[in-house]
Amino acid sequence: MQFTCYTKSTRPFLDQRHGTSGLRKPVTMFQQENYTENFIQCILSSLDGCLTGTTLVLGGDGRYYGRKVADTVIKMCAANGVRRVIVGKQAIMSTPAVSYAIRKYGANGGIILTASHNAGGPLGDFGIKFNIANGAPAPDHAVDKIHDLTKNILEYRICPELDCDIHIVSKKEFMVNSRPFEVEVIDPVEDYVEYMKNIFNFKSIQTLLQRSNGHPPMKFMISSMLGVTGPYVRRIFLEELKASPGCAIDIHPTEDFGGRYPDPNMTYAIDLIKTMKEKESDFGAAFDADGDRCMTLGHKAYFVSPSDTLAVITANATYIPYFKKNAIKGVGRSMPTSRAVDRVCKKKGIDLYEVPTGWKYFGNLMDAGLVSLCGEESFGTGSDHIREKDGIWVALAWMSILAARKLTVEEVLHRHWNTYGRNFFTRYDYVSCDTASCNKMMEDLEKMCITGSMVDEQFSFQHNSCTVTFTVAEMDVYDYEDPTNGTVVENQGVCILMTDDSRIVFRLSRTGTSNTTVRMYIESYESDPSMFDRDTQDVLKPLVEVALKISKLREYIGRQEPTLIT
Ligand code: G1P
Ligand code: ZN
Repeated sequence: MQFTCYTKSTRPFLDQRHGTSGLRKPVTMFQQENYTENFIQCILSSLDGCLTGTTLVLGGDGRYYGRKVADTVIKMCAANGVRRVIVGKQAIMSTPAVSYAIRKYGANGGIILTASHNAGGPLGDFGIKFNIANGAPAPDHAVDKIHDLTKNILEYRICPELDCDIHIVSKKEFMVNSRPFEVEVIDPVEDYVEYMKNIFNFKSIQTLLQRSNGHPPMKFMISSMLGVTGPYVRRIFLEELKASPGCAIDIHPTEDFGGRYPDPNMTYAIDLIKTMKEKESDFGAAFDADGDRCMTLGHKAYFVSPSDTLAVITANATYIPYFKKNAIKGVGRSMPTSRAVDRVCKKKGIDLYEVPTGWKYFGNLMDAGLVSLCGEESFGTGSDHIREKDGIWVALAWMSILAARKLTVEEVLHRHWNTYGRNFFTRYDYVSCDTASCNKMMEDLEKMCITGSMVDEQFSFQHNSCTVTFTVAEMDVYDYEDPTNGTVVENQGVCILMTDDSRIVFRLSRTGTSNTTVRMYIESYESDPSMFDRDTQDVLKPLVEVALKISKLREYIGRQEPTLIT
């Protein structure tokens, strides 16, 4: 059957700028007439107008409005001359699985319908993210090109009659303006599971979950937080690794994530934490809506800092078959991520790269063979097996280490700290603050960097009956130069380094959808083992006070307390 394409008139929307990870807005914004079509057209037009023979992958986290947008994407791909769309069943495919599919099928890129850990539902957020041919999130130059196009768009192309059922695995051929167009509906879970089996030793993980010879099995608990990873968890942990069904909760993807934030942290993953405490579980993991984040927990929900996860995986990489075959080339971390991994790299002679916040900065480094393992403090860790962070991969990596070393999470961490010392780390989020005030605060911090007015300033506090003094050693605005192509990104946050190597970082979030969110990152280093078990918040309290004093955050944004501490 022949389908006809139409060119429709539109007018630009001037707010279609990518954030840290794709375009994220409230669903109601995407529901405006032509808003979604404009953005999709600009993604397609950014591919240099040469779409003949192009294959694109389409996935998403299953959130509200995703099915409708998936339909629009297919109709617009058809009208724009794309040759083939590979789409996950019902347009549901985790972010890591999309990255893998792009690479496996040699696609030219992919579109991911997700707002990651942001709330879902009709009153929640929606998002569209574009990944390039290497499977990585579009880098800045690609994102800027799309943004420029959104400012001038006057028409888009669509094939409105082309209805494609994407419920079942199938291959469908259409003729569109006398050109063939194919939609292949795949089961993305199968591909991903096969890949994970090549990366990890499932047999050894299975022994951990079914220990015998007097060893009880490790009790673990996993939550998909009602997001996209449910089917992956079922296939991998319940079917392949034969864990009991009671080990997995919230594994039915829903459009609104049960009205909660699908964000794996100690505040939002409360069901997992409660269940782990009740069942005295030894290991836990929770994933965000699109499956690229993972929070790892030890016995009775003992919190593992994501920065430590990166350091521990780096130090224990040889227990993971993938890294046994491909020795770690280098490690990347985002600038605010704690420098725990730096210590491992230093000791092991591994190159360490620091990049701005956002996974898109790791793609080039991985392609150039400079790094094979990367992480962010925001619960994202992953390797060059794909070009996205990967939540399930993190859980399997931790389990591989526990299985090989026959230790608990806490034991692994303590042995790690005994070798390298402990970097205490926390992040304070001040969500949805007045934008002008936040900008003013950042401008003032930047001025301090330029003038050096804070250097040598001392701050003293009484803490637990002792006087703690911090002296500012350096204060800088963080700019980054990509070592693979010399591209420079400026103004990626303000770092304040103390003479004792403690560090404070301020930056503004670029994933929020209302007003402005300030992120304040606090880190200190401890080498005395008798101090390793201290409470992170207690340890970092004086440094938090220094950060608040220097930035005058309370005065600027009028908030006494953060919205969220992670
Ligand atoms: C946040 C995190 C960042 C992560 C991004 C996408 O971005 O801080 O590490 O890459 O979400 O998951 P932000 O809101 O800080 O710009
Ligand atoms: Zn995510």
